[in-house]
Amino acid sequence: MSKLLEVEDLRVSFPTRTGLVQAVRGVSFSLGKERLGIVGESGSGKSQTGRAIMGLTAETAQITAKKLDFNGIDLLKASPAQRRAMRGKRIAMILQDPKYSLNPVMTIGRQIVEALRAHERIGGAEARRRALEMLAAVQIRDPERVFNLYPHEVSGGMGQRAMIAMMLVAGPELLIADEPTSALDVTVQLEVLGILNRLVAERGMGLIFVSHDLRLVSSFCDRVIVMYAGRIVEELPASRLAQAEHPYTRGLLNCMPKIGADRHPLPVLDRKPEWAL
Ligand SMILES: Nc1ncnc2c1ncn2[C@@H]1O[C@H](COP(=O)(O)OP(=O)(O)O)[C@@H](O)[C@H]1O
Ligand SMILES: [Mg+2]
Repeated sequence: MSKLLEVEDLRVSFPTRTGLVQAVRGVSFSLGKERLGIVGESGSGKSQTGRAIMGLTAETAQITAKKLDFNGIDLLKASPAQRRAMRGKRIAMILQDPKYSLNPVMTIGRQIVEALRAHERIGGAEARRRALEMLAAVQIRDPERVFNLYPHEVSGGMGQRAMIAMMLVAGPELLIADEPTSALDVTVQLEVLGILNRLVAERGMGLIFVSHDLRLVSSFCDRVIVMYAGRIVEELPASRLAQAEHPYTRGLLNCMPKIGADRHPLPVLDRKPEWAL
């Protein structure tokens, strides 16, 4: 399989008053046109891994890697202008809550049009047509109407779909979805994931799907990376999750409530200091 992304020994750290916070501590993986899940509890470095690939790390941070390669482009050597040109066009990122990614004072349609015209020289009518087509692709039933609405006028699920439309309209090759449905209720979550899944398959994108929900990730991805304290502690095919070996992964599996099972109280993960070494 041709590699879309190669990450080797990625490290991200933040100098703080109390010393260096090492958010990512030597992460390596590669990705083809497949769905890769990254799981781990809050603070394990999932988002910082995604942001480093996207080129959205805070300026105060230090990033190093032996390799950070996207389609043959060395991302560490790319200039800020080159990275800006790639963001949205070739690599896109969907965040947890559309509230922070959609502009509240611009209609949804105009935001999608602008996202497209930032990367392609096309006329207004053509951009509008593509935006409407994209709104339909994320299964918004009434694209013409939603096109003219402001973000606060739509539900969370609709806002999240509008954001997916905005992120995918320019046709990126790699999509990083960082907890894209955590802010939604369960039924809407599954709908949005279904849409994302179909778009990834139809458009032949690579997907990095970040979540703290091991079960969700394993049902949705081909391969899963488990992170703990800034490192990858286990990597396995999603279908083999039940055979996970690392005690942290096993702990995550055991902590998940099973539908129909009566387990009170839920077991609490017993963290071992050596996992973080
Ligand atoms: N700007 C920052 N300054 C200092 N530490 C940060 C900053 N951003 C993130 N971190 C730290 O990096 C670690 C990993 O964060 P993150 O990648 O967001 O975790 P996750 O997405 O897995 O919840 C956390 O311990 C967090 O506190
Ligand atoms: Mg995060």
